[in-house]
Amino acid sequence: MRAVAELRAELGGALRAALAEGPVAAVEACRLEAPRIAARLARPGLRLGRTSHRLRNPANAPEPWMLPLLDELRGRAPEPGAFRTVDLGERGTGYVEPIHLQPPCATCHGSRVDPELLAAIRERYPEDRATGFEVGELRGLFWAVVAPGSSPAD
Ligand code: HEC
Repeated sequence: MRAVAELRAELGGALRAALAEGPVAAVEACRLEAPRIAARLARPGLRLGRTSHRLRNPANAPEPWMLPLLDELRGRAPEPGAFRTVDLGERGTGYVEPIHLQPPCATCHGSRVDPELLAAIRERYPEDRATGFEVGELRGLFWAVVAPGSSPAD
């Protein structure tokens, strides 16, 4: 789905730019930019965002329809281009794409996060559960909800 591809690309670009300033500055960039980019790409009939089974930001908590998809995709190896759709009845169609941990993500989500960086993360996210991920493991999902009558291809 194009909006999800744009979210993925824009977040990746924002993260790369922010990491050039150092990981602690990049935490602040993720905190501010991730919701801003998702809000900018949304439009009438389309909402989108990120979620996970082990959250950093509780505001990204999964909606009930996302839970079985998190369970299913956690048990699968990464497959390029993988996605799932779910019929949400009157609400339209739910769409997800898995997010797997890549090496640069381990700086802030891996098993050996630098103690100073971890302290900066825990200060902003006291309920953080998003460390200890291995490269290749499911980190979470990009999701979108497309209202009835809107095109899921957009
Ligand atoms: C500089 C530290 C940093 C790096 C590197 C980083 N993240 Fe994050 N990540 C964060 C922060 C901070 C949040 C919370 C953002 C928010 O408030 O929405 C977050 C949130 C997330 C979420 C949303 C779910 C949740 O737990 O709230 C996902 C999914 C995610 N990151 C995946 C990744 C992936 C995949 C990579 C590598 C491409 C990555 N992150 C790299 C800091 C980082």
